[in-house]
Amino acid sequence: MADISHVCYKESFKDKALILAEKYSLKLSPLAAQQPYLYISENPHIKFKDKKIISSFRSGSFTNRIKNFQRESHLKKAIGYGGESSKKILDCTAGLGHDAFILALLKQNVTVVEKNKGLCILFELALENLPQTPYFQEAKERITIINDDSASFVDKLFDYDVIYIDPMFEDRGNAGRSGMMSLISDYLDDFTDVSDVLIRSKFNRLVIKRQKQFKQSGNIAPSFILHGKSINFHVFI
Ligand SMILES: C[S@@+](CC[C@H](N)C(=O)[O-])C[C@H]1O[C@@H](n2cnc3c(N)ncnc32)[C@H](O)[C@@H]1O
Repeated sequence: MADISHVCYKESFKDKALILAEKYSLKLSPLAAQQPYLYISENPHIKFKDKKIISSFRSGSFTNRIKNFQRESHLKKAIGYGGESSKKILDCTAGLGHDAFILALLKQNVTVVEKNKGLCILFELALENLPQTPYFQEAKERITIINDDSASFVDKLFDYDVIYIDPMFEDRGNAGRSGMMSLISDYLDDFTDVSDVLIRSKFNRLVIKRQKQFKQSGNIAPSFILHGKSINFHVFI
């Protein structure tokens, strides 16, 4: 899997870049390094193939999901949403943290695991840049980000009410992924599906987001499937 090795920065963001480079054991460079690299400024991004992977919870298409988070009926059914009583959720594939943030707005406590350092940092910064309102800050406090391979949680799944997995789709075309997700697929270039490992462990409830055209292989069938417009949720109880 590709990942960043350098944190580059605009001079006025040097202190922040230093903190992140230390936290994630990355090299610090004031000048552009070999791509992909992380660039810290008022618009933080991963520079990859001369394009920018960005994550903002304040602008762009994700803001519609944020505004309408209560309408995520499939996601709610998938996790067995019980009103505002919080569940302990382990999101094993954080990515840009969109699903995790929606779950946090729904008052769930979410531990997110992401093995890519660059994406972990973009998620961290998107949360830091949220408006300073109690509404957003409370959601932010319900999220814990861990930079690790979620396969290492295989023996801890039973500690959570819900295990959530959104694997990369191999089909990068029009498989329900936005342009940004397609760029991220290209950057990561890794389609290992961690659910193959996690599904064999002990859990309370496990949810996998799947492409509609996904064909079940192996012998563990979901307890039920929630059919959406472009994706399905496979739920195992
Ligand atoms: C499709 S994206 C998830 C998108 C995310 N649900 C969102 O709403 O932004 C899949 C992510 O899972 C990560 N991933 C894949 N396998 C992983 C593993 N074993 N441990 C941690 N992260 C993993 C990839 O690096 C990628 O960022």
